[in-house]
Amino acid sequence: MGNPLNIGIVGLGYWGPNLARNFNALPGCKLAMVSDRDQSRLTHVQALYPSARGEPDYQSLIDNPALDAIVIATPAKTHFPIAKASLLAGKHTLVEKPLACSVAECEELVDLAHSKGLILMVSHTFLYSPEIAKIKEIVDSGDVGEIRYISTRRLNLGLFQNDINVAWDLAPHDLSIILHIMGESPKFVNCQGSAHITPGIEDVTAMSLQFENQRSAVIQSSWLDPRKVREMTIVGSKRMILYDDVATQEKIKIFDARVEQPPHYDTFAEFHYAYHHGDMYVPYVKQEEPLKNECQHFIDCIIDGETPLTNGKNGTEVVRILEASSESLKRNGEPISLDRSEISEKGETTAIKDTFSRVLSQKKQNRDKFVPSY
Ligand SMILES: NC(=O)c1ccc[n+]([C@@H]2O[C@H](COP(=O)([O-])OP(=O)(O)OC[C@H]3O[C@@H](n4cnc5c(N)ncnc54)[C@H](O)[C@@H]3O)[C@@H](O)[C@H]2O)c1
Repeated sequence: MGNPLNIGIVGLGYWGPNLARNFNALPGCKLAMVSDRDQSRLTHVQALYPSARGEPDYQSLIDNPALDAIVIATPAKTHFPIAKASLLAGKHTLVEKPLACSVAECEELVDLAHSKGLILMVSHTFLYSPEIAKIKEIVDSGDVGEIRYISTRRLNLGLFQNDINVAWDLAPHDLSIILHIMGESPKFVNCQGSAHITPGIEDVTAMSLQFENQRSAVIQSSWLDPRKVREMTIVGSKRMILYDDVATQEKIKIFDARVEQPPHYDTFAEFHYAYHHGDMYVPYVKQEEPLKNECQHFIDCIIDGETPLTNGKNGTEVVRILEASSESLKRNGEPISLDRSEISEKGETTAIKDTFSRVLSQKKQNRDKFVPSY
């Protein structure tokens, strides 16, 4: 085995110390430097890892040729400048979610990493959780049938951010999971929300996504809820999955439940939905820390030169949806097309509205097909 990779971490607030703990413990790397402009945070983390050199200015990490990789756990608005400086200095870079604050910024980072042959990874941590891996395995096996819709709730009291709204803070987790499970990008997003505490920064949002073939997803995000809720329901044509990340055990439950329509009928008396309520089972899932898996994956990708599961393109896709959700919030929940071929240079809104109306009208036609005739 070669020399361990030297890792530097910028941002040691709430989340950074978890990254420091993992990189300090993993084989194949060394936590070489840590940085936070808040001296109290820097002192705290340096006391835990005295062999890591501490610097208040992240530029010292960028300028250090001995560092192989930089991990960025600062507030979202600072991700782009720090990641860009890191890549320009030839460092592999792991950026906390969201990758950046606009698609243009994300694309610049992706191009930069590509041109320099560096690993750019985004911290979509849930994709490294054994529960999501198990759900993906079950969905891909065809056991739940065709995915019809996914709903998620990510609620708690705080932690309030002052540079991004709650959708940008919490929904990247849900979006990354939904994109991973659906295996495709949505066609439309719409989002509504309200700002109760900090003017202009929504602390409660409800986002919905429309995919091909009438598949959909809804994401509820809130910093204003008395309970910590992390729930996801995945409804398939054969079975339904409930994932409760806050549960201490039995986090995934699979319900043998479905509704079917009669294939044909002649009279109203013959028209009955068939409700199927079968068994519920709990698959075995090995307990592992998702963040540890994520940090290990970053190291492995650097050593093996492989593309990360959560690479710059995945980060860009999530930011594309978030950007459109902000546009929808501004337009009071109007659906925004994510299909760039639908957007003409002029009259973007009309094109979006027209397309959405077409989708709604198609949906209505499909529904009408099943209305029994008297
Ligand atoms: N992957 C996950 O599950 C997960 C969980 C929580 C937070 N996060 C992400 O981690 C990031 C940080 O979140 P947090 O809750 O720890 O925020 P925080 O505000 O608690 O910590 C951010 C830290 O960065 C420092 N900082 C800011 N600008 C800096 C700069 N230019 N140079 C050096 N230090 C600087 C601040 O002093 C602060 O200590 C965010 O992007 C957030 O979305 C990810």
